[in-house]
Amino acid sequence: MTAVNPEGFSGYHRKQDWTEDPELTHITRGTPCGEYLRRYWHPIAMTEEVTDLPLLVKVLGENLVLFRDRSGDFGLLHKHCSHRGASLEFGIIADHGIICCYHGWHYAVDGTLIRAGSEREDGPICKKVVHGAYPVIERDGLVFAYLGPPELRPPFPIFDTQANTGVEKVPFSLSTPCNWLQIYENTQDPVHVVHLHSNVSGIQFGAASGVDQIIEYQDSPLGMINIQTRQVGEFVWNRTVESILPNANQTGAIWEEAQNEKFFQRSSLLRWVVPLDNISTRTIGWRYLSAELDPENQGDRSQIGKEGIDFIGQTATERSHEEAQRHPGDYEAQVSQGPIAIHDRENLASSDAGVARLRRLLRKSVTELRSGEEPAPQAREEVEIVPTYTQDTVFRTQLNDQQRKGFGQAVANTVVNSGDKDPQERELMVKQTCETFEGG
Ligand code: FES
Ligand SMILES: [Fe+2]
Repeated sequence: MTAVNPEGFSGYHRKQDWTEDPELTHITRGTPCGEYLRRYWHPIAMTEEVTDLPLLVKVLGENLVLFRDRSGDFGLLHKHCSHRGASLEFGIIADHGIICCYHGWHYAVDGTLIRAGSEREDGPICKKVVHGAYPVIERDGLVFAYLGPPELRPPFPIFDTQANTGVEKVPFSLSTPCNWLQIYENTQDPVHVVHLHSNVSGIQFGAASGVDQIIEYQDSPLGMINIQTRQVGEFVWNRTVESILPNANQTGAIWEEAQNEKFFQRSSLLRWVVPLDNISTRTIGWRYLSAELDPENQGDRSQIGKEGIDFIGQTATERSHEEAQRHPGDYEAQVSQGPIAIHDRENLASSDAGVARLRRLLRKSVTELRSGEEPAPQAREEVEIVPTYTQDTVFRTQLNDQQRKGFGQAVANTVVNSGDKDPQERELMVKQTCETFEGG
């Protein structure tokens, strides 16, 4: 067979020796991105996983043991005992701290060696040894840890959607066998929603999400947003989807159909894409449930939890391989990019503007940190509620493409610039912005 393209049938000549992009994909201690990620709090487990036995966890390439002692304090310690290395996953949980099974060395949750087994209590060893430990905070069914330098520990942020009392927060955790970045950058790839989740696999979310959209990208105080604006029948639907650097994300209602007016309706999930090591990742967060976010009751609370979520295509186990081939989802697309997606091998197009922007933002932060400039903390003080920028707005009007673009920008600007206002005021401001497009 003769090739139509003179370059056709040239598989043999394709380059084979691609290199990774270690600056953004390698996450162990001492690597540029590993250090950057270590400047933030990350969820590392669901509270329900922490039982009366120690739990072995891997986070940012470190093997750790998580437990709750009998006084209720959480501990997160390096796996191997400072004595002669037995794993603390076989340790005995004490009133305070944990006792290694092998020779009885007893550690407090901050790593202090309280008692060195059969050594004299006033012996020198307790003064000399401090075991590796990290601070832990438990919040609404998730356990968070900070793995960075203790002197740079940032305030624990509470994002405004967490503080929303109108939603039920259901913890979930999903494992994915690939590098963290290819999962995270999917959140700034809204074009895939039309292809993967509509054209290819049939409608996997709301039918309205398959409607053609105008997409723009913009920085936000916490990272970036993409602005999706669609004409769905007699309504214009604007959605802002947010990346909270370095690795958190929020998105709007999963099954939004844009069939009635709404202004500044908040996120349906908040999740963190947490690297376990360079080639495995846990996505941990809360599904937010409410009648407002899911009026047709399409969500299923019973599916949400450890290795489960109530929308399709997020795990390997939920479907057969054949079914996954016939109707691939995010999991299949992301994992099949390889253990670590090779950026060098890609051909980024105009539709990848969000992915490119997200990588640029991450690379900038990583580079700045490398040159000694610490990233800005998400919260300035403990228990501060941090405004976020994810929302859906649906407004009854007909707009041409140009007007729709202006509408999307105007709503997004109002959302981004109103972070210092309370939620009701932000909603009103978005509504007022929409009304300037009335009869557009
Ligand atoms: S190895 Fe842990 S106490 Fe000896
Ligand atoms: Fe997706």
